[in-house]
Amino acid sequence: MSKQKMTILDFQKYKDEGRKFAYCTAYDYTTASIVNESEIEIILVGDSLGMVMLGYDSTVGVTMEDMIHHIRPVVKGAPNTFIVGDMPFGSYQESPEQAIRNACRLLAETNCDCVKLEGGANMAPTIKRMTDVGIPVMGHIGLTPQSATNLGGFKMQGGTPEGAKKLIQDALALEAAGVFSIVLECVPNCVGKAISEAVHVPVLGIGAGPDVACQVLITQDMLDMYGDFKPKFVKQFAHIRREMVAGLNQFHAETLSGAFPSPEFCYNKEVEIPPLE
Ligand code: KIV
Repeated sequence: MSKQKMTILDFQKYKDEGRKFAYCTAYDYTTASIVNESEIEIILVGDSLGMVMLGYDSTVGVTMEDMIHHIRPVVKGAPNTFIVGDMPFGSYQESPEQAIRNACRLLAETNCDCVKLEGGANMAPTIKRMTDVGIPVMGHIGLTPQSATNLGGFKMQGGTPEGAKKLIQDALALEAAGVFSIVLECVPNCVGKAISEAVHVPVLGIGAGPDVACQVLITQDMLDMYGDFKPKFVKQFAHIRREMVAGLNQFHAETLSGAFPSPEFCYNKEVEIPPLE
């Protein structure tokens, strides 16, 4: 039996009931359809696709066109999974009008279920304008990859009393602006717990410890597909890269030895071929 698609209202319901849920990424039809077959409730088509799919050094170069191109096949491949479309760098920072226009474009052109954007109290006025016109917005604070350069790189955030307080204030500002959930990335466990207790909406933690409603991981990280880079908070639940390389090498070896293709992989019909004129 296929799973029931989660709704926006379920986010709050699950938190209130103390029911945990899980959230991963997908950027293409095949991966989305695999996640759809799993029990995972939410897929993020993150701008991390810039690094994971396109080989960039950061997420900053990802465009609206890139996002739309990747969100569409994910929506198609995962009809029973809640799909989050990430807003890329430069698509919402200029003005609330720009943010509303691009969020509407992502929703209308891909049919994803909500948008996500990075930023705390600084983005709250924009998010308020978006939620006021009915756009479902997921927030994202802590390590925000689009501004990683300003944060001194891909580093833990909220590691000082002032830093932790600022993150709590950011979370409260986002909640007041109307987000229905908040991604919290790369913070000490106690900060994850404090933020989860400070806000009513669910906190979706990626490297934020166990005391949050939902755990988020990038699929290619948790299945060990991406390569050698592995943040501390990533547990690898499978080793797909190793499996793929082994499979590809087996194909190569059997091609060279002639073991492939054996008769069961061939069209063995005899055809009398007339002489060529
Ligand atoms: O783009 C992304 O994959 C993200 C996650 C790190 C939460 O924003």
